[in-house]
Amino acid sequence: MSHGIEDKVVVITGASSGLGEATARHLAERGATVVIGARRVDRIKALAAELIATGSEVVAVETDVTDRDQVKTLVDTAVERFGRIDVLLNNAGIMPLAPLERLKIDEWDRMIDVNVKGVLYGIAAALPHMKARKSGHIINVSSVYGHVVDPGATVYCATKHAVRALSEGLRKEVKPYNIRTTIISPGAVSTELLDHISEKDIQTGNRDFVSKIAIGPGTFARSVAFAISEPDDVDINEILFRPTAQPV
Ligand SMILES: NC(=O)c1ccc[n+]([C@@H]2O[C@H](COP(=O)([O-])OP(=O)(O)OC[C@H]3O[C@@H](n4cnc5c(N)ncnc54)[C@H](OP(=O)(O)O)[C@@H]3O)[C@@H](O)[C@H]2O)c1
Repeated sequence: MSHGIEDKVVVITGASSGLGEATARHLAERGATVVIGARRVDRIKALAAELIATGSEVVAVETDVTDRDQVKTLVDTAVERFGRIDVLLNNAGIMPLAPLERLKIDEWDRMIDVNVKGVLYGIAAALPHMKARKSGHIINVSSVYGHVVDPGATVYCATKHAVRALSEGLRKEVKPYNIRTTIISPGAVSTELLDHISEKDIQTGNRDFVSKIAIGPGTFARSVAFAISEPDDVDINEILFRPTAQPV
C-alpha cells in the first residue's frame, strides 16, 4: 500500500496495452481501485481478471474514446460501482506518423478524434462528478511532441500541443472546484504505439530509432503514482521525461 494511492478510484482510458496497462497494474498493486477502458475488450477483461485474482478491485469497460456516450459510461461505471471518481487518466492515443504531403487525411481525422476529442470527452464525463464533490484529479497524456514539432510528425504534434493547451486552460478553470490537473509528456517508451503507422517506410525508420533508445513504461506509471500520491494541497501540473539517450 502507498500513501495517497490506496482506495483512490482511478479511471484509465487506453488500458489494453502500453502505458495505460502498465499504470493500471502499478496503481492496482498499490491499492487503488481501477476502472479500465479500451476497445480491445478481451485484453482489458484479461487484465482485470489477473489483477482481481491478486486481490485488487478492477472493472473493465469496453470503451472507444471517440464515442462520447461510451466515455460517459466508463466514468459513470466508476461512480455507480465505487461511489466516486478520484482520478481520470486520459491516456488513449494513436500516432500514425506520415509527412503532410502524403495526405493521410483519414489518419489526421482519427488522431484529432482520439487524441484531442477523446480527451475532451473524458473531461466532459468526469467534471460534473468532480465538481459536485469539490475533489478530483484529471491527468492528460501529452508527449515530448507536445513541446517540439518534428517534420513527419506534424499532425500528431498538433494534437499533443492541443492536449497541453486544453490542460492548461482546464487547470485554471477548475481551481474553484479544488480539482487537480496534470500533464504527463513522455519521450520514447516501448509500447504498441508504432504498430499503427500505416506507411511502412516511416514505421521502419521509427522502429529503428526507437528500438535504440526507448525505455520501459515504468517511469510513466511511477509518474502517475507520484502525481496522485502528493498531498491534496499539492497540484503537480506537468511532468516531462525522456530516455537519457533521446536527442530531441
Ligand atoms: N510510447 C511512447 O513513446 C509515447 C510517448 C509520448 C506519448 N505517448 C502517448 O501515450 C499514450 C499511450 O500510448 P502507448 O504508447 O501506451 O501506445 P499503445 O500501446 O498503442 O496504447 C494505446 C492505447 O490507446 C488505446 N486506444 C487507441 N484508440 C482508442 C480509441 N479509439 N478508444 C479507446 N482507446 C483507444 C489502445 O486501446 P485499444 O486499441 O484496445 O482501443 C491502447 O490501449 C498515447 O496518448 C500516446 O500518444 C506515448
